[in-house]
Amino acid sequence: MTDWSERHRREGNVISFIPTMGFLHEGHLSLMKEGLLQGDKLIISIFVNPTQFGPGEDFDAYPCDLERDFQLAEDIGVDVVFTPNKADFYPQGFDTFIDQEQLPNHLCGLSRSGHFQGVMTIVTKLFHVVNPDIAVFGEKDFQQLAIIRRMVKDLNFNIRIIGHPIVRESDGLAMSSRNSKLTPAQRITGLCLINSLKKAQSSLKNNKTNAAAIIQDTVEFIGSHPDTEIDYIKICDPDTLDDVDSIDRPVVMAMAVKVGTTRLIDNMIL
Ligand code: PAF
Repeated sequence: MTDWSERHRREGNVISFIPTMGFLHEGHLSLMKEGLLQGDKLIISIFVNPTQFGPGEDFDAYPCDLERDFQLAEDIGVDVVFTPNKADFYPQGFDTFIDQEQLPNHLCGLSRSGHFQGVMTIVTKLFHVVNPDIAVFGEKDFQQLAIIRRMVKDLNFNIRIIGHPIVRESDGLAMSSRNSKLTPAQRITGLCLINSLKKAQSSLKNNKTNAAAIIQDTVEFIGSHPDTEIDYIKICDPDTLDDVDSIDRPVVMAMAVKVGTTRLIDNMIL
């Protein structure tokens, strides 16, 4: 993989990279289109990274269809699909992890202990092996993007990180590989995430600037839907992810809600 990258860079190409866990959907495809626009060669990786899943999470049940993924990647113009295997990437005795002090102690990091340590470790490994000039990440995983940006800055990676807006189904549900696990009824219930973000946006337009009051309205709105369990609903500073009390500048409203057993996340800049 590294040789391929080096050879094409020496020929004057800008190398774009998109790390994924596969089961590609329109959201990934739009990251790929961005990668193709920004660079000359596009590499994607498909690797379901065990170190970012906690006990009881869905690592074993993570959806997978490599043949379909290869076809989608080829159709859109990906140059290389890099699929490292687990034994190569985490050989016996593997004992080094990347971590961060501040940003992981918010939002998803609070209920998914060790998750971002796993993400930073695999992204670092992939960056070293793929050695891209540019990497594109989706804004749906807002916290992940903030953490990767911080990591790239702190550890002097010479890689430009590009954030790409959330891609939604026509009814507004944020695209995710996990949506495939929703029953038809849960799929409809899942819309309460985007609908609650829109409600918060319009409350703000009506001069309701108290974050706690908006969050309380959102808790009630989501709670009124069957089969939902809120993990968190937060209004926070987009850079530090610290909670905001009064909304007097752009903030990010982010949430994680279980619909049935499927954990969905969504966010919006208000
Ligand atoms: O966003 C994801 O799909 C994963 O967290 C990533 C960045 C591919 C690392 O495994």
